[in-house]
Amino acid sequence: MNIQSLRGMPDFFPNDLQKWHLLESVLSQVFHAYSTEEIRTPLLESTELFSRSVGNSSDIVNKELYSFLDKNKKSISLRPEGSASVIRAIIQKKQEHEKHKLWYQGPMFRYERPQKGRFRQFHQVGVEYLGFEEGLSEYELISMVIKINEQLGISKYTLKINHLGDAEAKENFCTALKSYLEPHAPLLHEKDIARLKSNPLRVLDSKEDATQLLLKNAPKFEDFISEQSKIFLQDLVKYYSDQCDVCVDSKLVRGLDYYTGLVFEVISEELGAQDAFLGGGRYDHLSSELGGKSMPAIGFAVGLERIIELMTAENLDVKTKVALIIVGEQDNQKTYKIAHELREANLDITLDAFLSNSSLKSQLRRANKSHCNFAIIIGSDERSSGQFTWKNLSEHGDQKLLSFEELLEAYKNL
Ligand code: HAM
Repeated sequence: MNIQSLRGMPDFFPNDLQKWHLLESVLSQVFHAYSTEEIRTPLLESTELFSRSVGNSSDIVNKELYSFLDKNKKSISLRPEGSASVIRAIIQKKQEHEKHKLWYQGPMFRYERPQKGRFRQFHQVGVEYLGFEEGLSEYELISMVIKINEQLGISKYTLKINHLGDAEAKENFCTALKSYLEPHAPLLHEKDIARLKSNPLRVLDSKEDATQLLLKNAPKFEDFISEQSKIFLQDLVKYYSDQCDVCVDSKLVRGLDYYTGLVFEVISEELGAQDAFLGGGRYDHLSSELGGKSMPAIGFAVGLERIIELMTAENLDVKTKVALIIVGEQDNQKTYKIAHELREANLDITLDAFLSNSSLKSQLRRANKSHCNFAIIIGSDERSSGQFTWKNLSEHGDQKLLSFEELLEAYKNL
């Protein structure tokens, strides 16, 4: 039997990756404009890192972690997200007292049920601002999110925001919600009973009708967060409402345990059921919970498989491509020197040396198929005369014979 890839872990072929490269270059351009620098952390971490950060009660750690015992019988896991590793790295370097504006990218792993827009290996680009208290950094990050969407040509989206208060407000609300819901336990789905025990906030985004009905009269989170937090939230809505569709969603709690303060998600109806293509929030206690010094933090991550669906094709910046067609007997070293000098003359152009023995006709067909704009033809005649055929491959393109110097000049000026 043929070996197949694992479920939910797709391959990416050159055609798919053109768009990915464009996405990655737009994102790094935005990060550069915001003076945000790249950090790279390993794909494997100790399992404890995620149970103590993302949280034992979260689905991500509870059900979706790829965990293994290594040869030393230590439990290690493939990272399901990037924030915990970034904080771990900063604590390990003893840099919690400094300010950091960081971004990262790479594959993340969650053992979820694969479906459209949901994979077991997926890719995130994330941003973490460390050492910044609530205030300007929220504005800076939301502006960055809007800029990313704008640069990618994404205009139809909703930014949902909510405020989870400080740790005390979160705890008081959870206690009140528990006391309200526990007497109604027989009406709750077992999943919600489990959530009520491990992380009552997660009950708020339950998909069960019976739970949602009960929640109508339950204590409201808004009543537990401070006036100051409410004003902060309203100010954000006011400020951004003429730049994008922004709304407060009091049910937005996010699936990771570490959040306090502002949380946000960006959704698009065009994506179907898995509609969130970006999520983030403030998590001021993670550093101390992981054994580091106290360090305020806020960040977000973009789901690349999802955001790429929304990018418009016109964004594709197609580079000039030239086919190097070699036919007939050749002196390999001399011919290859020509290719080398062309590339030296202009590295921005893609020179596709066909390395083929087939006929001129079939190589020209291949050049058209692979969207080459020009062809340089080196046949036996060209080789002996020192002249090269320069062919414009557009519909009514011309063709001329050029000396090597003229060819280099034409190539340089493309
Ligand atoms: P998250 O909401 O779990 O947040 O993931 C961020 C984004 O990753 C989601 O909005 C979604 O687009 C994408 N994503 C998540 N799971 C999958 C999947 N199975 N398949 C495809 N895409 C997926 C975090 O990971 C936080 N670390 C974000 C953050 C950074 N918060 C603060 N800093």
